[in-house]
Amino acid sequence: MGLENLEVDDDGLVCADVHHWAEEKYRLLALYDKLFSSGMKNKWDQRVYIDLYAGAGFSHIQGTSTILKGSPIIALTVDCPFDRYIFCEENEELLAALRVRSARIAPQANVSYIHGNCDAKIEEVCGAVPKGSSDNRVLSLCMVDPFDFGIKFSTLKRLSQVYIDFVVLLAIGMDANRNYDHYVQGNSPKIDEALGNTEWRERWKAAGARRSDFRQFLALEFSRSMESLRYLPTPLDRMKLVRSDEKNLPLYYLALFSRNDTAHKFWDQVLKYGTDQSSFNFE
Ligand SMILES: C[S@@+](CC[C@H](N)C(=O)[O-])C[C@H]1O[C@@H](n2cnc3c(N)ncnc32)[C@H](O)[C@@H]1O
Repeated sequence: MGLENLEVDDDGLVCADVHHWAEEKYRLLALYDKLFSSGMKNKWDQRVYIDLYAGAGFSHIQGTSTILKGSPIIALTVDCPFDRYIFCEENEELLAALRVRSARIAPQANVSYIHGNCDAKIEEVCGAVPKGSSDNRVLSLCMVDPFDFGIKFSTLKRLSQVYIDFVVLLAIGMDANRNYDHYVQGNSPKIDEALGNTEWRERWKAAGARRSDFRQFLALEFSRSMESLRYLPTPLDRMKLVRSDEKNLPLYYLALFSRNDTAHKFWDQVLKYGTDQSSFNFE
């Protein structure tokens, strides 16, 4: 899948400016959404798409005239649309633009918009997911795409009470390096909250690893936290490491967390596709 399916015309509404490397995120997400939405269509009665950090729906690639669909619009325009969409965004202006775009691009879609911080609004998010039963099997896919490692594990834990897969952007590349002293020596609760425990500090000390290994350590710790919720393990070689194209710096991992083998098979296809000549780099 090339960028051609993701490019859109400027509609004059607000767009977030994103770096060039966001293109890769959108291409990988578009492929996963496509595989998941069509592959799960006949296996479940309802498929729900949740975007906890939804944005405005369109993103502008800095320094270019290119505008791309953001994650919620990508999900709205798959060939086999989801039965329900739940978009949470804390910025009112961005959410208003997303509403207008969604209504224009996918007028038939059943969308709940939730304005506010996804952690504070998690009960509202959960309340918008249809109740599942033996004759109404509901499967959700949740996109978790914050700017930094500001995820709260307790939020994902709350959502994990239903059948739900997560695609998580672990934005720890820059953050873990820049704020290492603050996170490790200081008493910042940020990583404790993202991982849902404080024991990671002991494990990091015991590992005696180099500072440069901290990024991989955090990614594996996050997988370990998800395993505590009965998710299948996601080792580093099954996470997609995205680097900046200027200095080749590691920026983030994109990772799937699912309890289901089928979802992991779809993810394998995404990883295979992401391993092209320009981005042959799993760590
Ligand atoms: C990296 S952007 C993601 C955009 C979108 N997923 C995409 O790919 O097009 C993060 C978005 O989350 C919003 N945001 C940040 N913290 C949030 C929170 N705690 N709850 C809900 N939205 C939040 C920001 O306003 C921003 O629009």
